[in-house]
Amino acid sequence: MAVKRAEMLAAIARSKSLEEVGALRVAYLGRKGTVTEQLKMVGSLSPEERGPAGKQANELRGEIEAALTAKAEVLEGAQTAALLSVGMDVTAPGKALQLGHRHPVGIVLDELVDLFWQMGYQVAEGPEVETEWHNFEALLVGKDHPARDMQDTFYLEEAHLPRTHTSNVQIRYMQEHKGDFPIRVIAPGKVYRNEDEDARHSWSFYQIEGLVVDEGVSLSDLKGTLEQMMRGILGDDTKVRLRSNYFPYTEPSVEMDATCVICSGTGILKGASCHLCSGTGWLELGGAGMVHPQVLRNVGIDPMKYSGFAFGFGPERLAAIKYGVDDVREFWRPNFTFLEQF
Ligand code: FA5
Repeated sequence: MAVKRAEMLAAIARSKSLEEVGALRVAYLGRKGTVTEQLKMVGSLSPEERGPAGKQANELRGEIEAALTAKAEVLEGAQTAALLSVGMDVTAPGKALQLGHRHPVGIVLDELVDLFWQMGYQVAEGPEVETEWHNFEALLVGKDHPARDMQDTFYLEEAHLPRTHTSNVQIRYMQEHKGDFPIRVIAPGKVYRNEDEDARHSWSFYQIEGLVVDEGVSLSDLKGTLEQMMRGILGDDTKVRLRSNYFPYTEPSVEMDATCVICSGTGILKGASCHLCSGTGWLELGGAGMVHPQVLRNVGIDPMKYSGFAFGFGPERLAAIKYGVDDVREFWRPNFTFLEQF
């Protein structure tokens, strides 16, 4: 044991790096290390031998442990000295890490998902590159239908396109879950249009789609749902107005407005016409309606038994209203001074 002890101490003394010291620690004190094995052997000795042998093995473990620690300290000191000699100040405070934060549109999307989750909705997803059939034709917007002009579209090859709205998810979800009533989903996601950009329009933006299908679903269920949602996001005093509109895939179709958050629906701000709602007192936020019976038929649901409502609106516009931002394009510019405010 004496020879082994000398060998071990010599090897520790010779070691030149912290990695080497680490390897020796494993070789001597690890689970199958030399010193550990000696300690294990003590148990197999006779009771008379056990006392002195145990004492000796424990002393050896203490000595090796101390030698390894001392050598590691020496090597660490040398490393620091080497860094200092090349002019590095290891005591200088580190640079503070720049922490990220949530994007304002993401905050609104999360709030919406939370609100709908409380109303029993599930989140559904669909592809951003979509077939023309799912994006248009299943929604009764045929190839030459004038309603295609409502969404100026980018096209890809082979009858695919970057989706122009999240209504494609309605179709995909109903196809996959046509036996699972009630269907109650929201589908947040990115959409793309060949848009003439302005303060209310960007070429790539988010939408959040909602779909409910069951027996006896009515327009008043839609209105109640939209009111609940708008109050949750914009405050309890918010009122919702449904105006008649046209979408090929809903009948009847409506446009959803909420009372302007800046002028509280009066249309007047500091004696002048409110700039956000152009003096109308209402803000246009999305489209909605009762799912057209033919759309239900297209995905194999019997419209004589089931009815449903759907809606789709833009979280950018909602975020703009909530945070008083007067240009939706600002959300997607790499302008950290703007984004850091949220
Ligand atoms: C649609 O996209 C319909 N699919 C909505 C729908 C769903 C109707 C289900 C019926 C049933 P619209 O093109 O109006 O409708 O867009 C809906 C909302 O998306 C708008 O009210 C607006 O909030 C937002 N939006 C539309 N275009 C842009 C744009 N270029 N930039 C930012 N937001 C936009």
